[in-house]
Amino acid sequence: MIIDGKEIAAEIQKTVREKILNLKKRKVGLAFLLVGSHPASQSYVRGKQKACVATGIESTLVELPEDTSQKELLKQIDKLNQNDAIDGILVQLPLPPQIDPKIITSAIDPEKDVDGFHPMNVGKMLLGEEGGFLPCTPHGIQVMLEKSHTPVEGKHVVILGRSNLVGKPLAAILMQKRKGCNATVTVAHGKSEKLPEITRSADILVAAIGQPRLITADMVKPGAVVIDVGINRLDNGKLVGDVDFETVKQKASKITPVPGGVGPMTIAMLLQNTLWSHLKRYEPIPLF
Ligand code: GUN
Repeated sequence: MIIDGKEIAAEIQKTVREKILNLKKRKVGLAFLLVGSHPASQSYVRGKQKACVATGIESTLVELPEDTSQKELLKQIDKLNQNDAIDGILVQLPLPPQIDPKIITSAIDPEKDVDGFHPMNVGKMLLGEEGGFLPCTPHGIQVMLEKSHTPVEGKHVVILGRSNLVGKPLAAILMQKRKGCNATVTVAHGKSEKLPEITRSADILVAAIGQPRLITADMVKPGAVVIDVGINRLDNGKLVGDVDFETVKQKASKITPVPGGVGPMTIAMLLQNTLWSHLKRYEPIPLF
């Protein structure tokens, strides 16, 4: 079975839109900061802005040249931190080498950190505290497993990749002591020995390593659930994941496609975080 990320994301997006339509007094605002002209980043930001329009979120794009200094970017962030019409701030990554992403993510007001990258939100996630923002891609994967009725509790989840964006936070979320989580988590990476042995022991295998079609059928246990986070462009222009979809889909019980799997979920969680940020600021009642 193919897990349709587009369909699950559309359902979440519809709920967010309905809630926004009911907010008669104020608008929900999300600011994007894009430094340089990285083609993939431009395309991701465009996709996110399109989703904002469809959901009724007012988006603002601040485009800065490739040679922007860290000081200038920090100034822009501070302006958005102070701006009451802005509920969420997203600095698209990666940033050019003269800018330290750690300093940038720490400068965003944690209450507007809809990416969930600020150390305060990362800390809350690790501690299992409620009230912080969860990062969009790993949270989207957890919700996708839940909405596709995939049991996670007690299952062996193998995550391939240890990035701060996906691998590490996904491990932290899936081992949380709460409904839809409670997994046994293994994080493997480029230096892991006996990788096929590790991946074959997974009930749920998440590939987030950025290598086109690395996961082949022989690396997957029959009936496993396979989540593909990879977005790799081949020389012929084709977009493929980290999983060899055609062969692995014969062996897996469920699999996510690329495109149309994890990507739309990331956007849906960003919209949800932005609405949540707005509601936390203006309507302090429990929401989700
Ligand atoms: N670059 C790739 N994924 C992301 C993301 O989720 N957020 C931001 N800000 N940049 C990214």
